[in-house]
Amino acid sequence: MGAVFRGIGVYYPETVLTNSDIEKIVETTDEWITTRTGIKQRHIIPKGSPLKASDFGTFAAKAALEKAGVGPDEIDGIICANINPDKQFPATACFIQAKLGVKNGFAFDVTAACAGFVYAVNMAALLIDAGQCRNVLVIGAEIISPVLDWTDRNTCILFGDAAGAVVVGKGPEGRGLIRSQLKSDGTQSEVLYLNLPGDEGRRGMFMDGKQVFKAAVTEVTDIVRSTVAQAGFKVEDLDLLVLHQANVRILNAIAEKLGLPPEKVLINVHKFGNTSSASIPLALHEADGEGRLKPGMLVALAAVGGGMSWGCNLMRW
Ligand SMILES: CC(C)(COP(=O)(O)OP(=O)(O)OC[C@H]1O[C@@H](n2cnc3c(N)ncnc32)[C@H](O)[C@@H]1OP(=O)(O)O)[C@@H](O)C(=O)NCCC(=O)NCCS
Repeated sequence: MGAVFRGIGVYYPETVLTNSDIEKIVETTDEWITTRTGIKQRHIIPKGSPLKASDFGTFAAKAALEKAGVGPDEIDGIICANINPDKQFPATACFIQAKLGVKNGFAFDVTAACAGFVYAVNMAALLIDAGQCRNVLVIGAEIISPVLDWTDRNTCILFGDAAGAVVVGKGPEGRGLIRSQLKSDGTQSEVLYLNLPGDEGRRGMFMDGKQVFKAAVTEVTDIVRSTVAQAGFKVEDLDLLVLHQANVRILNAIAEKLGLPPEKVLINVHKFGNTSSASIPLALHEADGEGRLKPGMLVALAAVGGGMSWGCNLMRW
């Protein structure tokens, strides 16, 4: 225990795509999208913008560094989660490292789709606890709209572009990450995936929505329960549950299964859509701005994504 979030920063493009805007692109309605997903709008990068995931990640990281009062020379590692990297390689984290002027340590990417932030936080905390790093930047940097198939109403309505970053570093006694659990089930890799540009088959994302829905509710509920139990707490001890913002029905179903009241579950998917690995820092940033995160609170972060991959971080804020 001991790795805390010293600062949170976010970035999202100004351009807003509302459900009414999407009605002009595919056969859908604001009513259908709202009732099935809770999403009302998403921010997306303007068509033809030269910005890459590393630019989004750099903007969010700069904001997080400023908030933490930490300089680039105090960062010993950068872990970036994303589903649409700048290039096949090197890691998007390496581009961010150069753009931030960070000279120490390492930079690498995590590929765990929408669960990437939770995976990266686990790695960063281990590096801090082991004394190998002073501060690690964990970034979810997602530019998803250009790789969507804008003729596929099953998927194009769901996603938005954004980045979120946290500076993970040593905190005061009694605070920080208590326990993490990560899980994957590769036999479900066909349920949700994004083809590479040269791959056979149609472009864009493939998603078996019903299967993803089921897996999200079951696995996230179980992993939150077991992570809390392993740390010697009860679910009702949680002060705040911050879930990957995929769909308001998924969030409500998990909250109900866990028996948590609505005020303990953060929801901002209606404003941003599903921003994959950026969604948890985006929700945390908003909660922090509203004064909903207070030192000493027991907070669980949990996410599920393609893989299937899922995980939970339990923290004493
Ligand atoms: C995608 C999702 C909203 C679809 O909701 P659903 O209740 O399962 O809807 P279905 O897939 O059964 O579709 C019902 C009907 O709506 C239609 N439909 C699908 N997308 C539509 C849209 N955007 N607008 C209008 N109708 C749509 C379907 O074609 C289907 O029509 P049919 O009955 O004539 O075949 C839901 O499955 C879901 O949220 N899944 C999880 C997605 C997710 O979170 N992914 C990311 C995880 S990290």
